[in-house]
Amino acid sequence: MKIITFANQKGGCGKTTLAVNFAAGLAKRKIKTLLIDLDPQAHATLYLGYKDQSNNSILKIFDNLIKNIEFDPKNYIISRNPEFSFISSEIELGALESELSEKSYALELLKRLIEKTETLNFEYIIVDTPPNLGFLTLNALKCADIVIIPLECSIFSLQGSENLKKIVSLFGNYYEKLPLFFHLITLFDKRSNFNKEFLRKIEKIIDSLLSPPVRNNIHLKEASYLGKTIFEHNPFCRGAQDIEKVIEDFLKKIKEIRAVDFCCEAHSAQKIYLVGDFNNWQRREEYALVRKNGRWQKKVYLPKGKYRYKFIIDNNWSHDNSNPHKETDNFGGYNSLLNLEG
Ligand SMILES: Nc1ncnc2c1ncn2[C@@H]1O[C@H](COP(=O)(O)OP(=O)(O)O)[C@@H](O)[C@H]1O
Ligand SMILES: [Mg+2]
Repeated sequence: MKIITFANQKGGCGKTTLAVNFAAGLAKRKIKTLLIDLDPQAHATLYLGYKDQSNNSILKIFDNLIKNIEFDPKNYIISRNPEFSFISSEIELGALESELSEKSYALELLKRLIEKTETLNFEYIIVDTPPNLGFLTLNALKCADIVIIPLECSIFSLQGSENLKKIVSLFGNYYEKLPLFFHLITLFDKRSNFNKEFLRKIEKIIDSLLSPPVRNNIHLKEASYLGKTIFEHNPFCRGAQDIEKVIEDFLKKIKEIRAVDFCCEAHSAQKIYLVGDFNNWQRREEYALVRKNGRWQKKVYLPKGKYRYKFIIDNNWSHDNSNPHKETDNFGGYNSLLNLEG
């Protein structure tokens, strides 16, 4: 199961449209997918044509989790078709943040829900987030294996992307996974010189771009008025075609990625960082390990390849004792080796 969070604090940059139709497009390929609307504006819920869902929305699930009430997630999941499931949102979800402000579990709620859905065998869980970096977005980032950042052609959406990455870095020693980031240009107008120039610039500075850009297509807007996914509304329009191609590109790229669980047994350590070829050997907060059940760990996604790495345990550089593959370094110690070619 992989969790994809669509996030950008900039509103109106296409998060909901992409999240809904990306999920629907995966389901169309017979990939079992659950879409979760985590935005109190409930736009994904509306997009799919569900109006009053206040009896079984994500808020009710969070209520159960907060009050420790046993529940079956199936009772809260709407089945759109055998491969496409959905959990709705509602406006009152917005009030939860202030109620939970001091609670340590506030950022764990989505994670706890997702753990409960494990037996339902979803291959992908897609999360649509609100246009801010509040606790709902932080919940979704904490769970994410992959973050897709929609960018419409504006400097504000790029700014949103930068802020998102800063947040992941700030919360580094709290997040057990370092997600993989992809960017995706949307609301793209081929006839606009500014849009073309924006795309050229982005291609130069961002290497994690999904392609093609999703064009501005009225059918994507129409679909939301009709309460339909683009594939239910008009599967042959440009919007549907672009999203299908993006999914193809995504699935191809994800095949080249490996998840690595780094672990370190250092019971008395105060802080541990992972450094290696993949982060230019720099001590960065997003690569801080997290202590869980007495062990330090971090899941990191890396492209296929060969890597050298070390841990920095309270300022001491050390190889990974649990990994027999190592080479001598220039300082009389060892680098640990990782082979992710297979
Ligand atoms: N590719 C697109 N073509 C045309 N309209 C789009 C496209 N993507 C989004 N929209 C429209 O732009 C507006 C904002 O998109 P939305 O997905 O709600 O953004 P966000 O979730 O980031 O606020 C909506 O009215 C939506 O219908
Ligand atoms: Mg939205």
